[in-house]
Amino acid sequence: MTKPILLQIGNVTQRMKNRFDELFDVHVWFEQQDPDAFVADQGSGVLAIVTDGHWGVPDQLLARLPNLKVVSSYGVGYDAIDADDAAARGILVSHTPNVLNDEVADTAIMLWLATSRRLIQADKWARSGQWERKGAFPLTRSVQKRQVGILGMGRIGETIAKRAIGFDSTIHYHSRTPKDVNFIYHSTINDLAAAVDVLFVITPGGTATTHLVNTDVINALGPQGILINVARGSVVDETAVIAALQEGRLGSAALDVFEHEPTIPDALKTMENVVLAPHIGSASVETRQAMGDLTCDNLERYVQDQTVVTPVPECAHLTRK
Ligand code: NAP
Ligand code: 8YV
Repeated sequence: MTKPILLQIGNVTQRMKNRFDELFDVHVWFEQQDPDAFVADQGSGVLAIVTDGHWGVPDQLLARLPNLKVVSSYGVGYDAIDADDAAARGILVSHTPNVLNDEVADTAIMLWLATSRRLIQADKWARSGQWERKGAFPLTRSVQKRQVGILGMGRIGETIAKRAIGFDSTIHYHSRTPKDVNFIYHSTINDLAAAVDVLFVITPGGTATTHLVNTDVINALGPQGILINVARGSVVDETAVIAALQEGRLGSAALDVFEHEPTIPDALKTMENVVLAPHIGSASVETRQAMGDLTCDNLERYVQDQTVVTPVPECAHLTRK
């Protein structure tokens, strides 16, 4: 029997590929010499797309695949997919919530510790022989008993908060709506930033959150403040962060995500008060395996009964029979 076509955008693991090959005739988007010719020749046979949070689905592609029914994304953030457009076309979009909460929260806490205790500089001090030549590394700032801010008190934000409590922190947060949590709610981001020592950014990306963290927020966080972005590069005004760090209006920053990945502005690379990570929030073997399995489960479920396990909210109604 002819298998339906799965269009693969971005990379998948061998374990995922093995499962896809059971169910689908897999075509890889970036291997197409002529993507337009592929769409013209084979587009009507494409039932499913597998993609990730970085590549999403290219503009206009949904409109050009008339029999596309399901998009499974390897990641929780789906700002690179037009989910409203997909829902309007009856296309189910799924993602991988929850299975990465712990890993991303661990990464956020790791970045906080590395920034506050200046781990990267201390490592350089040890390796370069400065310890022998100059003596002890300068004292750093403790992470204990801090006012901790979380912008985006969702699945991952709450997991970060639980970890920060282990450092005797007081937790503050802002989301558009207050949550059923025992933390201090601030109705504006500026108020949140002004109240805290460290601000974790963990909202979704996309137009609704573009540059939520702007010059005003950064100034409110202040010259001793630490900004940690594990959300999307678009949520933070990168140019404003660079200016604030250079002018001493912001203490330090740790960034896992950037406005134009994988490009990182040179100015950030040269600053001592910055810790940089190449979008590794969920990037452990165990968590990526769990994300990959859920990405496959979603497609398998679609083939079985035309629903998915974890639809994005915009498409949840499409899974009700
Ligand atoms: P989630 O459970 O949907 O939480 C998102 C939170 O952000 C919610 O509390 C939401 O509350 C709040 N929010 C949404 N829009 C907002 C706005 N305009 N202003 C203020 N708060 C807003 O999502 P999650 O699973 O925690 O994931 C969050 C994001 O983390 C993902 O979308 C992804 O972009 C990012 N992420 C990054 C990595 C990485 O590798 N660095 C890994 C995983 C996820 P309200 O709706 O009440 O505002
Ligand atoms: C992934 C992420 O690195 O889940 C997300 O939203 O940002 C990360 O876990 C990304 O989806 C690319 O696969």
